[in-house]
Amino acid sequence: MANSQVHVVDHPLVQHKLSLMRERDRSTKGFRELLNEIGMLLAYEVTRDLPLELVDIETPIAPMKAPKIAGKKLTLAPILRAGVGFLDGMLALMPSARIAHIGLYRDPNTLQAVEYYFKAPQDLTDRTVILMDPMLATGNSACAAAELLKARGARDIRFVCLLAAPEGIARFSKEHPDIPIWTAAIDERLNDHAYIVPGLGDAGDRMFGTK
Ligand code: URA
Repeated sequence: MANSQVHVVDHPLVQHKLSLMRERDRSTKGFRELLNEIGMLLAYEVTRDLPLELVDIETPIAPMKAPKIAGKKLTLAPILRAGVGFLDGMLALMPSARIAHIGLYRDPNTLQAVEYYFKAPQDLTDRTVILMDPMLATGNSACAAAELLKARGARDIRFVCLLAAPEGIARFSKEHPDIPIWTAAIDERLNDHAYIVPGLGDAGDRMFGTK
């Protein structure tokens, strides 16, 4: 996995929460809360290099030049439906971010991503877009979502997931070498049904209690 664009967030809090999420008996409520919490922690990492500028402010004691985030506005782009699980946690740290919804489902026969909804802010060219989906499995959905964002002008895209399979990282990095990836862990492989092993099962079903 010699890809300098892949960041594994090995913070103990992230790793602990991820292990709780993997447990098969974790409740829907618990799974959802943990995904939100990890979303917040990953948001911290994915925004680590945002540029700062010094602006004049006044504290109650004295004027000073204080650092504030400069320039680009942020857009959060969850891939429906599981990507929504990251949203509240990310918004807790980036409350002014715009949101782009990307509706893709995985065709169970071909495993290809099929678009059914796309709604994003107009001005993606001038925005940092944080694309998110908990599971980077085959990479089909992530690649298709990145293509849709690029077609609408996005040039600064970062991809955040919870778990990645080596196959998904290879595919995504090949098709979108310009997009760095943040993940909490890289698992062993995909199984014959394109589920991540050992993984945590179907993230959408576990989050929404649909199984
Ligand atoms: N999507 C999931 O929700 N889980 C997997 O293991 C793979 C894709």
